[in-house]
Amino acid sequence: MTTSSRSSHPTDVNWQSFAAVYDVMAEINPAYRELNEAYRTFLGGLQLRAGDVLVEVGAGTGNYTVAAAEAWPACHVLHVDASDEMNARARSKRAARGLGNLEIRTADADTLDLPDDSASLITAVHALYAFVDAPAVIRRMFRWLRPGGAVWACDPCSPLDVGEWQRFIFKSSCRERGVLRTAQLFWRARDAARQNRRIGRALEGGGYWGYKSELFVFKVDATSVTDLGASTRHVEAMLSRCDALVLECNHDERMLADGRYPGWLKARIAGPFGHLANAAAAALLAALDCSRLRHVIAAHLSAANNRPELARAALAGALGCDESWIGIADQARGFDWREL
Ligand SMILES: C[S@@+](CC[C@H](N)C(=O)[O-])C[C@H]1O[C@@H](n2cnc3c(N)ncnc32)[C@H](O)[C@@H]1O
Repeated sequence: MTTSSRSSHPTDVNWQSFAAVYDVMAEINPAYRELNEAYRTFLGGLQLRAGDVLVEVGAGTGNYTVAAAEAWPACHVLHVDASDEMNARARSKRAARGLGNLEIRTADADTLDLPDDSASLITAVHALYAFVDAPAVIRRMFRWLRPGGAVWACDPCSPLDVGEWQRFIFKSSCRERGVLRTAQLFWRARDAARQNRRIGRALEGGGYWGYKSELFVFKVDATSVTDLGASTRHVEAMLSRCDALVLECNHDERMLADGRYPGWLKARIAGPFGHLANAAAAALLAALDCSRLRHVIAAHLSAANNRPELARAALAGALGCDESWIGIADQARGFDWREL
């Protein structure tokens, strides 16, 4: 990296040289294309306003920031990467597409700071592991995020089997464009393969921040359930043995029945395709195998038809635990980090 502010990192991965072939690898990797497609779909579903700021850290050659700038032309997209070479490629794409709303900044995510509550979306794709202190960057990201904003992040876990990954790309590229063309592309991208092996070694040796795959299982088992209407046996089976559960406690039945909503709306909310009442959420919780459960958060509470203490009491009753153990997700601020 040529930036003076780059924090020292105990790995020998050279992102500058990776830049020249990054998009060749991206192009022939079906998983990369699929992820980028999923991101575009996600972008299409967001509700943003003109002037909203979308940030990506470790944005590379801009395959995600360009997608964001194209999807939301009235928003400002901030692309941050520490490598001038990666950024040069992103600038070429910006120029080719005439994207006036894409700012490309050469900066180190480990020292970057942005104003609190300033970003509506923060993205980090396969970049967190490379930061010197990823948890600190993640904490800052959540400070930059405005209430109701979103984070779209994904990262490899450790250990990373680089050989298996290369074989997967090679085989699928052979199917798409034949062995000869694939071999030519792999030869062109041979430095990327070298850097990928270094990344694999750095993840394995603890030089890079990497979740162990077992930890990812815990992450996957952190489940969020809202707009459920009613529970079923299948839902109970799927939620059993979860480590963490964010569970809809939309309303208190009495408050909804006595409240000011019109009859048709009350019927929809209370019906099988509506929302879970505190009592229904408690009944669902009581039916689960909670042997691994370490966190429960009551979420999606109606401001008009519920109160946090009612939701808390219902869930604590189902678990036979102290009410203070039940977390509440605030409509505007969500809830704090939980350790799994
Ligand atoms: C694997 S690439 C991912 C690029 C992009 N997110 C994508 O998926 O196409 C990782 C990127 O992180 C950048 N990077 C590594 N350490 C960084 C740091 N401390 N601050 C900012 N960017 C960093 C590298 O330059 C590289 O462009």
